[in-house]
Amino acid sequence: MALKVSRRGGIPPFIVMDVMRAANARAAAGDDVLHLELGQPDSGAPGGVLAAARAALDNDRLGYTEAFGIDPLRQRIAAHYAATQGVAIDPARIAITTGSSGGFVLAFLAAFDAGDRVVLADPGYPGYRNILLALGIEPVCLPTGPETRFQPTPALLDAIDGPIDGLIVASPSNPTGTMLGEAELAALVGYCRDRGIRLISDEIYHGITYERPGVSALRYGDEAVVLNSFSKYFSMTGWRIGWMVLPEDLLRAIECLAQNLFISAPTLSQMAATAAFDCAEELDRNVERYAANRRLLLDTLPAIGLDRLAPADGAFYLYADVTHLTNDSETFCRRMLDETGVAVAPGTDFDHARGAGYIRISFSGTSAAIAQAVERLSGWVPGQGG
Ligand SMILES: Cc1ncc(COP(=O)(O)O)c(C=O)c1O
Repeated sequence: MALKVSRRGGIPPFIVMDVMRAANARAAAGDDVLHLELGQPDSGAPGGVLAAARAALDNDRLGYTEAFGIDPLRQRIAAHYAATQGVAIDPARIAITTGSSGGFVLAFLAAFDAGDRVVLADPGYPGYRNILLALGIEPVCLPTGPETRFQPTPALLDAIDGPIDGLIVASPSNPTGTMLGEAELAALVGYCRDRGIRLISDEIYHGITYERPGVSALRYGDEAVVLNSFSKYFSMTGWRIGWMVLPEDLLRAIECLAQNLFISAPTLSQMAATAAFDCAEELDRNVERYAANRRLLLDTLPAIGLDRLAPADGAFYLYADVTHLTNDSETFCRRMLDETGVAVAPGTDFDHARGAGYIRISFSGTSAAIAQAVERLSGWVPGQGG
């Protein structure tokens, strides 16, 4: 007799990870693959982080830490908010997590009950939807487009049928890179406050912006759950370390959940990450590289048929409307990988309703790889039927 397998585990795959597996298989078979599918910095952790990690390995027992993490790191994060956002955050409200992914699990568990309804923008990061689904929380996908920079607005929220318990915003967003301005974010914070909606603000791409700096929801009050991570600007994806800034009413619940689910975030990563805030010079050079890559793509992609691009204010992605080229972005991406060795992500990961007409191009790689990808795609893209 077949054993029971829970419905909660039946969530969709993270398709980018599947694309990465296909791209890696081609590379292992000897093909020269250009990875423009991945949402991770090409650079490793900065030198100061590596030195701190080596010192910790030599000198520390690396046992468990308190569930919310080590004090020096929480204090550095609080100082970071004072310096970048002009807000004073009590380090007691900061929880160190196993990447922002670990933070989402804790935040959703603490803030929502099974059956609650949480709104998120389509297109958006697939993890939100899939984690909510796994926890029995209903994701309410809000279609957004270029007219609102792919971001939710009070008017769009007003048009939703049924109750709303939570709203997730991401600025800059993945996959579009678009941002909420100060007024837009303040309006959403106010909207949620007036209606008792729990706001979750994903600020993981702060620090990687091209037009204006990222604005934190913390500027407009203390009730939002703010998530951030060392994975993007700080270039520490595999160290699995991030943080949350929590409102008072969720502190104890999240502490108890963290103690039981994770005990603590990786101690070595916590100690290393404490040094990350002293590495701005090196990290800002990465951002300069992303900026140059973005410029190159914005200058060259239109001429090769990819001319319908979301205005990427930040992050390291261009989200391209390819409806004039295909109605099946997964096949389109597979063919692109097979025929050019360039891996990009199909939009189906980010938008279940419309993603078959979109692709996401990541420019977090080296400038040489981006230039080579453009060269390979010239002459390939126009007229592809998908
Ligand atoms: C918008 C967004 N949020 C969260 C994450 C999760 O990142 P991590 O768990 O490495 O902090 C990602 C990863 O790509 C992302 O793009």
